[in-house]
Amino acid sequence: MDQVRIGMIGVSGRGRNLASHWHRPGGKSIVAAGADVYLKKLEDFKDRVNKDAFLTTDYKELLERKDIDAVAVASPDQFHEEQAIAALEAGKHVFCEKPLAITVEGCDRILKAWKQSGKKLMIGFNMPYTRMFRTVKGIVDSGVIGQIKAVWVRHFVGKGSLYYYHDWHAVARNTTSLLLQKGSHDIDLIHWITGSYSKKVTAFGSLDFFGGDKPDDLTCPKCPEKETCTEAVLDDHNGRYMCAFRKEVDVEDNNVMIMELDNKIKATYTECHFTPDYHRNFVFIGTEGSVENSQPDNKIWVKTRKSNTWCELSDRTYDIKESEGGHWGADPDLCKDFIDMILYNKKPPTNPLAARMSVAAGCAAAESMRAGGKVLEIPPLTLI
Ligand SMILES: NC(=O)c1ccc[n+]([C@@H]2O[C@H](COP(=O)([O-])OP(=O)(O)OC[C@H]3O[C@@H](n4cnc5c(N)ncnc54)[C@H](O)[C@@H]3O)[C@@H](O)[C@H]2O)c1
Repeated sequence: MDQVRIGMIGVSGRGRNLASHWHRPGGKSIVAAGADVYLKKLEDFKDRVNKDAFLTTDYKELLERKDIDAVAVASPDQFHEEQAIAALEAGKHVFCEKPLAITVEGCDRILKAWKQSGKKLMIGFNMPYTRMFRTVKGIVDSGVIGQIKAVWVRHFVGKGSLYYYHDWHAVARNTTSLLLQKGSHDIDLIHWITGSYSKKVTAFGSLDFFGGDKPDDLTCPKCPEKETCTEAVLDDHNGRYMCAFRKEVDVEDNNVMIMELDNKIKATYTECHFTPDYHRNFVFIGTEGSVENSQPDNKIWVKTRKSNTWCELSDRTYDIKESEGGHWGADPDLCKDFIDMILYNKKPPTNPLAARMSVAAGCAAAESMRAGGKVLEIPPLTLI
């Protein structure tokens, strides 16, 4: 095979972005089919991506096609498990968006199907492809900060309302918790950079800003308060315009979790969805120093403590170069790696087992905060 033929499940939103990187007629991949529950989105996909694409509102018809080698699951989280397993069982390589599934058991069922299929499975974790976090990983792996003992992370989701509270994301039956939906990126980064998985968690969280008593069918364009509401979305932002203060909203917008990782590393993760600014700020503290990033400033600072080695002679500031492409330049490389994994057996930086572990930590944290902060053990991986 010298060209991978991809079928997309979920063609707007994230699927639209991924397809733009994969559709390369004459190159190593083409997007040859699309499945979605909305015909209008499929028609738009055909116009935008490939006028010859096979289209269907039933993803199983896409899986039956012999001319599709790989499938990208970019539908909402609660469909990942069923669709990823069906695609693997149909003999397709699978790219599954994060989170892998919305339960640990669901992740384990996907991993089992993956092992039985002999096909490739990759998860949409793009943060390890950003220049920022690749640089942090390189610094940690160089040994300059010694052995990591503590991690402190804050994710201030400045656009929490627009991204998460106007549609399916805001309801726990679809996502379990935003600690999976948003936090799985960050928990995966903590695991990837430290080289350790979470073993125990405790968490606190509640719905402190969004949610309320507005009707579940209220949308911003039809709302009598649309001129004064601070959260009103009046254009169709990927269909995200349901009221952020509707009754069904039940995922916490203010979350704090504490983790103990392998090697006794202690980590804290704060995820707040109503901050005025956007920050994804990680600090790793080791026995010989610390490394900290600032996404808004595009900088990393390395500070060293007395260690009687050359490392202590200076502290350093890294200026991260600007990059092009979605998610700080990560998406083009993420998409390329999926194709290179199929064609040349290339290994991406993270793997499906790690994706299961970030879901497991997020699920345990959600359970903990809903039980008043109970300390919970993370179910270990059994499928290695
Ligand atoms: N890796 C990243 O940085 C990143 C960024 C954004 C979204 N995502 C992930 O991508 C997935 C989609 O998120 P989104 O923001 O694009 O959502 P979205 O709601 O904007 O788009 C989802 C698409 O799936 C379609 N769809 C809904 N139900 C379906 C079903 N049962 N079968 C097939 N298609 C269906 C919708 O019509 C829509 O076209 C989520 O799992 C999300 O976590 C990942």
